[in-house]
Amino acid sequence: MHVVKISTTGLGNCAELNQVPYVYASTSFGAFVLPARCPHRGGPLHLARVEGGSHRLICPWHGRATPVGRAARHGLPAVRRGDRVSIVFPGDRPDDCLVVHRPLSPDISLRPGDRPTSVAHA
Ligand code: FES
Repeated sequence: MHVVKISTTGLGNCAELNQVPYVYASTSFGAFVLPARCPHRGGPLHLARVEGGSHRLICPWHGRATPVGRAARHGLPAVRRGDRVSIVFPGDRPDDCLVVHRPLSPDISLRPGDRPTSVAHA
């Protein structure tokens, strides 16, 4: 396993491993590390909106709905401290591990006053 640190917002808010982007998503349902690639055709889930009341991420490309709970279960173990998130990836560190910037939808962006959250997914 290896740990990659990203920011919750702004520059360096996305870890890309094997060309799959991971961002820190904060929703009213909870905060978690989101694999930001839609399972349908690879759409940008970091730009998804959250359907009010139903806790579903709506992909901006074709409108596929993914329950936030399911997306969180497919996330990775992570701990947030302040504006930094440490993500634990299984396996050895791949050659193509990058920390980059991805814009986030307002529906999954960290809001001022959100408290640090520790997230752990089995
Ligand atoms: S790529 Fe997300 S719905 Fe098609």
